[in-house]
Amino acid sequence: MSDLHSTAHPDPEESMGGAAVEVGTGLPEFLTQDYSRYTQEDHDTWKMLYSRRMDALKDNGSEIYLSGARVIGLEPNKLPNLNDVNARLAARTGWAAVGVGGFMPPVVFFRCLAARRFPTTLTIRPRAKLDYLPEPDIFHDVFGHVPLHADPVFADFLQHFGALAAVSPGEKETEEMARLFWFTVEFGLIKENGRTKVYGSGLISSHGDAANALGPKCDRRPFDLDAVIAQPYEIDRMQDVLFVVDSFEQLFAAVETIAARRNVSV
Ligand SMILES: [Fe+2]
Repeated sequence: MSDLHSTAHPDPEESMGGAAVEVGTGLPEFLTQDYSRYTQEDHDTWKMLYSRRMDALKDNGSEIYLSGARVIGLEPNKLPNLNDVNARLAARTGWAAVGVGGFMPPVVFFRCLAARRFPTTLTIRPRAKLDYLPEPDIFHDVFGHVPLHADPVFADFLQHFGALAAVSPGEKETEEMARLFWFTVEFGLIKENGRTKVYGSGLISSHGDAANALGPKCDRRPFDLDAVIAQPYEIDRMQDVLFVVDSFEQLFAAVETIAARRNVSV
């Protein structure tokens, strides 16, 4: 079962939680992380998840992800302090992980990306739901997504993706962007030194999804923009088809291609 990947996080069916839109900027009001409110059980949950996933990722996680996790200073035994993470990210790419209270409308989420702000859930899943939770938590958002924001090429890709997605003119264009996001940011695979590794956050943060993605039941195809935007997906089951990039430059180029087709500059 897929783990938290619906973090494409925008869900038009859901309320905005604590994320009220500020008039003028188009960005929500972000929540401050009160680090002292985390309990020992919260830290222990992080520790369990971190240890289980990182052990596997050392073998099958993208080197770019692993390097990013070191750059932003993710620690095995305690939840990340966003001030520390953001100080490291600011120096590297100018991205920041910002607290939000829940789901937000897609266009607001995309505007955040365009501003190099990654909306991040601040709470961690309950111990009883270590393996599956339908909504994002800080493990999915920070462990799963944020390390790649330290990579300059991925950082530029995600910003441009957000800027383009925020101005999608219609349903068809919105669906294309959702598919591109799903098959890259959430469930992307990358070829490194002849081996296929995981980098999408839904794979990084979920044992079962990563095993499926690299196993015999998943059809791994070379990344091709037109194939990706023609490929439907289902969120609540294991993925049958995924796409493998050779480098993140392909992702950046994909966004540029869509922008050129739509005659938009981002
Ligand atoms: Fe996500």
